Formats: sequence, structure tokens, C-alpha cells
Amino acid sequence: MIIGIPKEIMYGEGRVSATPETVAKFRADGFKVLVEKGAGLLSFHKDEDYAKAGAEIVEDVAKLYEQADIILKVKEPQFNAEKNLHEIDMMHEGQYLITFIHPASPVNHEMVRKMAEKGIIGLTLDGIPRISRAQSMDALTSMSTCAGYKGMLIAANDLPVFMPSIFCAVGMIKPCNVLVLGTGVAGLQAIATAKRLGAVVYAADIRPDAVEQAKSLGAKIVETGVPANVAVGEGGYANALSDEWLEIERENLKETIKQMDIVFCSALVPSRLAPVLITEEMVKSMKSGSVIVDISIDQGGNCELTKPGEKTVVHDVTIEGIKNIPGLIPTSSTWMFANNVYNLVKYLSKNGELLIDESDEIVSGMLTTINGKIVHKGALEAMGLI
Ligand code: NAI
Repeated sequence: MIIGIPKEIMYGEGRVSATPETVAKFRADGFKVLVEKGAGLLSFHKDEDYAKAGAEIVEDVAKLYEQADIILKVKEPQFNAEKNLHEIDMMHEGQYLITFIHPASPVNHEMVRKMAEKGIIGLTLDGIPRISRAQSMDALTSMSTCAGYKGMLIAANDLPVFMPSIFCAVGMIKPCNVLVLGTGVAGLQAIATAKRLGAVVYAADIRPDAVEQAKSLGAKIVETGVPANVAVGEGGYANALSDEWLEIERENLKETIKQMDIVFCSALVPSRLAPVLITEEMVKSMKSGSVIVDISIDQGGNCELTKPGEKTVVHDVTIEGIKNIPGLIPTSSTWMFANNVYNLVKYLSKNGELLIDESDEIVSGMLTTINGKIVHKGALEAMGLI
């Protein structure tokens, strides 16, 4: 089978779905690999390195889409202004597409319908279950690791004060206070990063397991007031809280938030809107010059004032609603992503051919379109079709 690696066309996207290293591994597994010219430039991978690894460099992306059996991408298909065509329009029946499709998100419904109409076999990376045998393929976890690290650096950069304690000739500067809300994958990485930068770190999560992990990284725990039987649901995941419980949680966080220099927001219940943990009143009560980095913005954000994709200053507080943080650390995020996708293709294939076993938990979680139909449960629910 032929694998196609197009250049990502979303503005500012520095990642690419394969590295020369994963190209060499695909070749060894019996795949032919086509890489669009310049696809790896923003993550510092040169065409000649892909060629040396055994890839064919293709100048015209339409030809790459035409020839490939499997398209590996980072972002969901977009409109290609240079070609005046949507990436889906360059695809054909029976072709596999493996990428983050986010099929339940309303902005992608039209695209998912088109994928089904064209007979594309769509597999979405955000559907990989967080189970141990899928860990090496879990690109979402890898990207959350990137977002936790880089998001904390963005906060440090916005801060008008030092993060660590500084001793100088005129006296001592105290370390800054950081609160991490939601200590899942991204939150734990944010805690570790803030600790390395010398901050005093606080953390809050409604799941006792997450709280334990935050504690083991040295964070001071802020109680949310939400009991475990309310907070934890099926499979150990967090429950979406009622407005009453969210109000209790906000009351519990209120006093701590006034003392913070940075609040890092990464609280989320999968497939739900992010819980609003910081209201405008709470922002008003924060110190002048403090910073909120709200990485849950794709799901609406944990702070009610966050603007998607924007950095704003409200009531003297800088609020970052930056999207696509992993794209800001493109070499590391590409390395993680490319290896996750390589492991996935290896898992799905036998003797250089992809096989779709719909009874497999990993496949069924990811499968979005097949045989001309939309089959992704979250997408069908969001479209009102089930
Ligand atoms: P995760 O599921 O591992 O962690 C979320 C945590 O939030 C869980 O520990 C959960 O218990 C906690 N939580 C849920 N409700 C809560 C509440 N009411 N109060 C306190 N904690 C609560 O998720 P992960 O992978 O760490 O991702 C976190 C966020 O980061 C997501 O919104 C994700 O979309 C976003 N993200 C953003 C990126 C960007 O570029 N902006 C890149 C990668 C991830």
C-alpha cells in the first residue's frame, strides 16, 4: 500500500505526520511512502532526509492524494487555497484517512458527511481509547503533554514578574504562585514544568486519583468540595458536574485564585463542554499582571472570559485562549505524533495492508466513516441522527 504524507496547510501548523525515521520504518514494513515537497520544513525535517529514508518526494499534492491508499495527516482536512480545492475533494473512494477529525464537533459535520459520500475510510485519532494497550498510539495524550509544557512556558513568558525566587543585591523576590485546574495529562505536565521553573504550585481536580498524582509531583492541593461519588463516573473518568456542584467548586477555589500569579486551566470531561471554573468576578479579584492560560478553549474554556485563539487583557489579567499549542513545539510534537501514528498503522496492518476489524475496541473508537456511512457514535449523536 502507498502512504501519503501531505504538508499541513492550516495557518501556523508546524507539525507533519511522519519523520524520516518513521518513513524508514514504514519502508521496512513494506509500504511505499510519498511525502509532499517541503512537508517537514517547519519541524526541521528536510526533503533530502525523507528521500534518504526511502520516501518519494512529490511536488503536486493532488498527485499524492491521487496515488496514496492511506493519507496520514495531523489536522482535519482543510480547504487548500493554492489548489482551490478542499483536501477531501482530492481524496477518493476506499482511501484511508488517519488524522484528528474531531467528528462530533459541529464545525466538522459537513466535512464528515462529505467523507462518507466519497467513500473515504476515516479513522479519527481523538477516538483512540485511553487504555494501556493503546498508549503507544495515543496521539491525543502526546499532544496534551506538549500543551501542558508549552502552555506553562507561555504563561511564564506573559508574567511581568520572575517565576522562581531570585536573590539579588537589593533583596529577595518571592517565587510566584501557580494554580493548575484539572490535573490530567496536560495538567500534570504543567505542574512539572512550573515546579522546574521554581514556582510554588497548587492544584485542583475532582478525581481523587488525579489529586494523588498532582501531590506526588509536589503540588499543594486545593480542595474542590466535590465528593468522589459525585465526581467520578464510569471507568474512573470525571463526571460532568451539575451547576450546583460547579458553584460549590468555584466557591472553594475563590480565595486561592486571588493569591495566584498564574492559573493554568486544563479541566475537561471527555466529549463535554469544559466546566466553567473561573467567572468574571473571580478574574476581577485576581492580582494585576496575573495570567490565565486556558488550554481547554477548544471545548469552550474553563474561564468564562477566554476568547478562542486570542490573547486578551481583562481587568489587568492576561488571558490566553491560544489554540494548537503543540504546533508551537513542532519538532518534539512531530516526533511524538509520527511515532504514535506509525505504531497505529503497524497495529492496523498485516503484510503491508490495512485491515479494519470493527469488533476491535481501538478501531471502533476511531472509525468515523466507512462504506459510505458515518459510523462514529459521537458524531451521529451530535448530528441528531441517533
Ligand atoms: P484529561 O482528561 O487527561 O484531564 C482533564 C482533567 O480535568 C481530568 O483529570 C478531570 O478529572 C479534570 N476535571 C474534569 N472536571 C473537572 C472539574 N470540574 N474541576 C477540576 N477538574 C476537573 O485531559 P487532557 O488530555 O489533560 O487535556 C486537557 C485539556 O487540554 C483538554 O481540554 C484538551 O482539549 C486540551 N488541549 C489543548 C491543546 C491546545 O493546543 N489548546 C492541546 C492538547 C490538549
